[in-house]
Amino acid sequence: MSPVGPDSQLGVARTLKALRARVDGWRSTGLTVGFVPTMGALHKGHLSLVRHAAKLSDRVVASIFVNPRQFAVNEDLATYPRNEGADLEMLGSAGCHLAWCPTPEEMYPTGYQTSVSVAEVAAGLESESRPHFFGGVATVVCKLLNQVRPTVAVFGEKDYQQLLVIKRMVRDLDMSVQIVGGETVREPDGLAMSSRNAYLTADERRIAGKLNGVLSDLAEKLEKGAPVESAMAEGRGLLETAGFDRIDYLETRWAADLGAVGLGSLETGAPARILAAVAVGRTRLIDNWPVERA
Ligand code: PAJ
Repeated sequence: MSPVGPDSQLGVARTLKALRARVDGWRSTGLTVGFVPTMGALHKGHLSLVRHAAKLSDRVVASIFVNPRQFAVNEDLATYPRNEGADLEMLGSAGCHLAWCPTPEEMYPTGYQTSVSVAEVAAGLESESRPHFFGGVATVVCKLLNQVRPTVAVFGEKDYQQLLVIKRMVRDLDMSVQIVGGETVREPDGLAMSSRNAYLTADERRIAGKLNGVLSDLAEKLEKGAPVESAMAEGRGLLETAGFDRIDYLETRWAADLGAVGLGSLETGAPARILAAVAVGRTRLIDNWPVERA
């Protein structure tokens, strides 16, 4: 592990043995451990989760692991942005104590055979275009939680379906960790920060900045009682006019379990969520917005 130093300094663990030595040491002295899993290429959204975890626990571990099992063969595993030096610097400045940076061989040694799959809440939405995705995410997050054994783990609401999949998995498998959602951090024009925003050209970036405005306008309409079916149809039109090249989905679901809300006006007093995945050029963006009729 390096650097060796006080707990205020960022350590880096690259083997399970090094990770366990550090975290078990903390736990044996009664310190609580917060955890933020990431795939690196860190931005302010990731760092806000680290700060959130630091408020909830004595020590914070963040993992950096580009998980091959959640990428399909046609996806961007090879080109996914990687910049460990900058990531470690950012983690240190955000108050993270330990970066867990396993190699793919450490995570999936020869002979590895097990996967975790979550059913209903993982079905539809992201899984329509990425059927392999949540199996890969649930498997790696299950492993990461077993490796770090944190008291609390923080996931972004930006990936809303992922957050619910992880919550479901932790409940179903009796894992003793609290899963907490962290707010989406946005650029000044409202674009949700994402490691993949780095792929956008200047023109695409301008278009990408319109997604959040469409979602917030739709939320306002639904809150005033507009029927879901017509609001979503209008939203699709707005996204096309804004210049998005493809809409994978634009849907309103119940926020608690992503259950179907029906086509008419939302029932009052129950939180819902508008969820969208769109493509601009070759970049796929996801975002979501809360809705609740008073
Ligand atoms: P990654 O895309 O690196 O995201 C790591 C965490 O940061 C996730 O919980 C994600 O929801 C959160 N996040 C991303 N953008 C955010 C933003 N703008 N504001 C707040 N939080 C944001 O999600 C993954 O990695 C992987 O699937 C992972 C869970 C690490 C499993 O491999």
